[in-house]
Amino acid sequence: MNETIIAPSILAADFANLQRDVEMINNSKAQWFHLDVMDGVFVPNISFGMPVIKGISRHAKKPLDVHLMIVDPDRYIKEFATLGAAVLTVHYEACTHLHRTLQAIKAEGMQAGVAINPHTNVSLLEDTIADIDLVCMMSVNPGFGGQSFIENTYKKVRALKEIINANGAKTKIEIDGGVTDKNAKQLVEAGADVLVAGSFVFGAKNPTETIENLIKMTK
Ligand code: DX5
Ligand code: ZN
Repeated sequence: MNETIIAPSILAADFANLQRDVEMINNSKAQWFHLDVMDGVFVPNISFGMPVIKGISRHAKKPLDVHLMIVDPDRYIKEFATLGAAVLTVHYEACTHLHRTLQAIKAEGMQAGVAINPHTNVSLLEDTIADIDLVCMMSVNPGFGGQSFIENTYKKVRALKEIINANGAKTKIEIDGGVTDKNAKQLVEAGADVLVAGSFVFGAKNPTETIENLIKMTK
């Protein structure tokens, strides 16, 4: 099994000390930066946009995993590529022509991700799974950090893993929301490859150690 990728979510960082928190991730064992873009329409919250990502991108030494919780994401694909996104994730529920959107993301040289809300059945990804580099499975309702993990997620991870294997796809499964030391191991055992952690990492006394522990306990 590959080492679990930990992607700390910047949403839980201290925005008055953003460079410090970016350096913390640079110097930790975390492999990705998870960046949550919210538009106040697709989700009932507004987070941050291009100027903040540009600033992070200047200092980040690890891939940027950008999670778009926005309507009409196609409008911004090019711009996120220019900003340095390595993975660009759009919501299944926000895309009328998902297959086209995935091709557009890849055409800009990024990995294409699809996020699904807790109510979205994984079987809806069967026909596009071969084109998806990453499925971001929401384990909370998107919009806010610090919510509790929805237990039904384990079952969904196992079902998605079956779809991936049945199609001979290499799609990574990322879990986003309420990830802690209480569910990390079980999630990876169910088939998760990437764990996003916001408040659990940034709310810890020692974020660097917390990241390391998450990796250790999922080995
Ligand atoms: C929620 C975001 C998550 C969030 C996770 O809408 O997509 O990435 O930052 O935060 P925690 O780990 O605190 O649940
Ligand atoms: Zn996210």
